[in-house]
Amino acid sequence: MKHATSLFSCLLSITLSSAALQAQADDKTAPPIVHSTCFMCHSERGNDPDLGFVPRLAGQSATYIEEQVNAFRDGSRAEPPAIIYMWPVAQNLSADQIKQAAEWYASQPAPQPIPPDGPVDEGRSIYMNGILSAGVAACVSCHGAKAAGTGIFPRLAGQTPQYLLAQLRYFRAAVRNDTSAEIMKPVAQHLTDEQMDAVAKYLSSL
Ligand code: HEC
Ligand code: HEC
Repeated sequence: MKHATSLFSCLLSITLSSAALQAQADDKTAPPIVHSTCFMCHSERGNDPDLGFVPRLAGQSATYIEEQVNAFRDGSRAEPPAIIYMWPVAQNLSADQIKQAAEWYASQPAPQPIPPDGPVDEGRSIYMNGILSAGVAACVSCHGAKAAGTGIFPRLAGQTPQYLLAQLRYFRAAVRNDTSAEIMKPVAQHLTDEQMDAVAKYLSSL
């Protein structure tokens, strides 16, 4: 009987510990920095569409996320919402915390498309072909066919339209001055507000 009891408790503990491991695998938790800080505005998985001016980070390129946090830290990304919201956060992060947050958000399922409030033909055309007469390069040549993002090129698909439009304006006004922003400035400087709005609407619907 004693033997049977110990066998039973042994089996029970194996079952329990594998159940615990399984639960851990299914419900992988965010690194402490995301859990304690980033989640407040970006949500834990980075795909909360509630606040239009807060970018969705789910599925974003990890390289790009790291670069941007460093740009908030060194002050080269200096548009007003960056100064208000991201500068104070970025000052206190270690290189390890930045990397962990970047890898976490990059590995989350991409955000759901946001249904557009009108036709997206003009936006699609700008994205795919650029605007020849205004000297605007086709966005697709850098951001890719699905705007999914890779390396220094950010994911744009499923981003909130309000955030995308704001960033295009910040490039044009040259207040966003991190290293790779130089690549976007000549693009944005030749777009009108209406064209920016059209392409932002198209991208968020992807
Ligand atoms: C208090 C709110 C707040 C918190 C907390 C916060 N963010 Fe942000 N974050 C923002 C806002 C607002 C923006 C948009 C800034 C802009 O428009 O320039 C932003 C922008 C970003 C961007 C740029 C994304 C892009 O597409 O260019 C990254 C990357 C980022 N945050 C990462 C983080 C990480 C990592 C943390 C946690 C360590 C964090 N944020 C915490 C509000 C916050
Ligand atoms: C020559 C390459 C290139 C072309 C063409 C290009 N982009 Fe970009 N784009 C970039 C790079 C690189 C960045 C990252 C800039 C940075 O790190 O500040 C970027 C950033 C952006 C961002 C900011 C995203 C964020 O999360 O903050 C938006 C919006 C954007 N591009 C839209 C467009 C649109 C719309 C077009 C076409 C009209 C376009 N881009 C054409 C290279 C390009």
